[in-house]
Amino acid sequence: MPHAVRIKNTGLRGVTVADTKISFIDGEKGILIYRGYRIEDLAEHATFAEVAYLLLKGTLPGSEALEDFENQLKNARTLPEHLLDALKCCPATANPMDVLQASVPLLATAEPDLTDESREAHERMAIRLISRLPLVIAAWERIRRRKEIIEPDVSISHAANFLYMLHGREPDEVMSGALDTCLVLHADHTFNASTFASRQVASTRAHMYSSVAAAIGALSGSLHGGANTEVMKMLLELKKEPDIASWVKDRLDGGERIMGMGHAVYKTMDPRAKFLKQMAGKLAEITGMHDIYEASLKVEEAALEEFERRGKTTIKPNVDFYSAPVYYMMGIPPDLMTPIFAMSRIAGWCAHIIEEKFGEAQEKPALYRPKADYVGEYCGLMGCKYEPREENKKIA
Ligand code: COA
Repeated sequence: MPHAVRIKNTGLRGVTVADTKISFIDGEKGILIYRGYRIEDLAEHATFAEVAYLLLKGTLPGSEALEDFENQLKNARTLPEHLLDALKCCPATANPMDVLQASVPLLATAEPDLTDESREAHERMAIRLISRLPLVIAAWERIRRRKEIIEPDVSISHAANFLYMLHGREPDEVMSGALDTCLVLHADHTFNASTFASRQVASTRAHMYSSVAAAIGALSGSLHGGANTEVMKMLLELKKEPDIASWVKDRLDGGERIMGMGHAVYKTMDPRAKFLKQMAGKLAEITGMHDIYEASLKVEEAALEEFERRGKTTIKPNVDFYSAPVYYMMGIPPDLMTPIFAMSRIAGWCAHIIEEKFGEAQEKPALYRPKADYVGEYCGLMGCKYEPREENKKIA
């Protein structure tokens, strides 16, 4: 029996709860590695399909294996009719993250491998989930705008097909390439809140879809994946603001946070944010949306200055800061930005669920079960005296 450890009110910062072979972060140096490979190399040279394969299987695919994996992703580009019917019943005002989360158990109801406990079955489920989350997001966007749902195109890449189904037109190559890179950058990030949620549920031996639904719920929060939507709302508010520096200062003076800044692990610039910043600059040139890009540069500059003045020099832009303008320039509305994070992170979640269930990094998977100190009402071990209400008196 391991000895009791007390680490309260720290959000488990610095607590190691498992071994993993999937990804590694050096928060001081700003390094992120997937299965041994630097994120910079993967973002520059690998496709999302290649990275999803790497995360799930542990090694990079050869050409034949990659082609086969891509075909499996393409062949899974279908949604069950009852899921589409359910989406059509949702109010148009529904939050897309709620819709995405609710769709996962509905996908489970049509999953042939749901109760197969083998690793192979889990990989097949992972491929279907990776392939289908984008279809749900695109279908919901079309439904809520009373537009016709677009059938998937199995001849184009994962990212290109998503943009095609979202906008109903052949996507620009630069945009689909940029989205593919964003998917690579967001695909995994060790034991962040949503991944931990997925592993915790997997540790109960619940099925993969339950674990993924929990992860989507965790990702939706504004301190986690929901931050990109908040960043975009801020940039839209600020794109015509003449004095962004004062806006940032007032916000911080008011005790509020600047979304897209700061990280639980990185104490320097998030390596993914560097890529996204460059990408935002490029897309601003192509789309002419200079106002949004300029606003993000000014918020960054003002926030870094303010943090410096307040002695909080480790707060820097994170992945959500520049992904927001990048997605916006791709024609993606702010409330779809967190679902797009999910459409990438699904690869990491599935890899972690498999690792958790099959004990691939540690000898024996264990059910997560931390403790809490009880600080509520206490009348001794006999309990407080309960006076039954007259109407509740039970017949002996
Ligand atoms: N804006 C203003 N202040 C921030 C901040 C931000 N974005 N991020 C952290 N801080 C401040 C906190 O207010 C706190 O100050 P205090 O010690 O005076 O109370 C201190 O920095 C530590 O923050 P805390 O939340 O306790 O720890 P953390 O560094 O682990 O925080 C986040 C990590 C992500 C929760 C935090 O940076 C945050 O809320 N960022 C904004 C949301 C966001 O972008 N989330 C996506 C993360 S990828």
